[in-house]
Amino acid sequence: MTRRSYVVGNWKMHGVGKDLHEIEAIASRSAGFHDVDVALCVPATLLQRAAATVADFPIGAQDVHKAAKGAHTGCVSAEMLSDCGASLTLVGHSERREAQHESDAEVRAKAQAALAAGLDVILCVGETLEVREAGLAVSRVERQLLDSAPEKLAEAARFAVAYEPVWAIGTGRIPSTHDISEMHSALRARLADRFGDSARAIRVLYGGSVKASNASEIFALKDVDGALVGGASLKCADFLPIVEAASQARPAG
Ligand code: PGA
Repeated sequence: MTRRSYVVGNWKMHGVGKDLHEIEAIASRSAGFHDVDVALCVPATLLQRAAATVADFPIGAQDVHKAAKGAHTGCVSAEMLSDCGASLTLVGHSERREAQHESDAEVRAKAQAALAAGLDVILCVGETLEVREAGLAVSRVERQLLDSAPEKLAEAARFAVAYEPVWAIGTGRIPSTHDISEMHSALRARLADRFGDSARAIRVLYGGSVKASNASEIFALKDVDGALVGGASLKCADFLPIVEAASQARPAG
């Protein structure tokens, strides 16, 4: 099975109304690459305006609460995100796991709540430098995946995983191609253990300092189905070449 390439921008805490033109440019220019799915995860405050600006382009959130509603000051539910026009959300980004102390169990509950409300989900996993240097990266990230992925998936294609080594995010450092391949093939094997044949529809993205200059090399790797891109997704001029590289790579499934 060949999975379609998937390139997703994560704007983190960047972007206000005057940046909507970048979202518009990314949406219209990436529409020219018919073999790549492209999406942007924007701050909650931009969701509604972004979705209204680019009607046919997927706009996502960066986090979601696990509960449908209730006394959770400052939090946003899956139904609220969807009501703003979001069609997907990230869960378990390392910046949230670390700063908000999100556990695997909590991340799993968020993923399940989002999927149940009709949002596609990208689950982020990844090891710290300390864990990588101790030689424990693969086993630790496999455990993180198994403990934070949903128990069951009704539609596997609506679920994706982003492998993002914490030490590669925003640093300009990336793992060796060997290490990326090793991790992606391990994650794919664990997804197959959990979800059986349907796991073949799940895309596994690489994230952490992806840019135009390294994208082709990363997309050429077996089991890499695309990328989750932070800093290089803020400007169309930086992001579009990454989409183009994904289109040229056509990773085999
Ligand atoms: P980066 O961020 O591309 O700026 O390293 C990736 C991410 O955190 O999703």
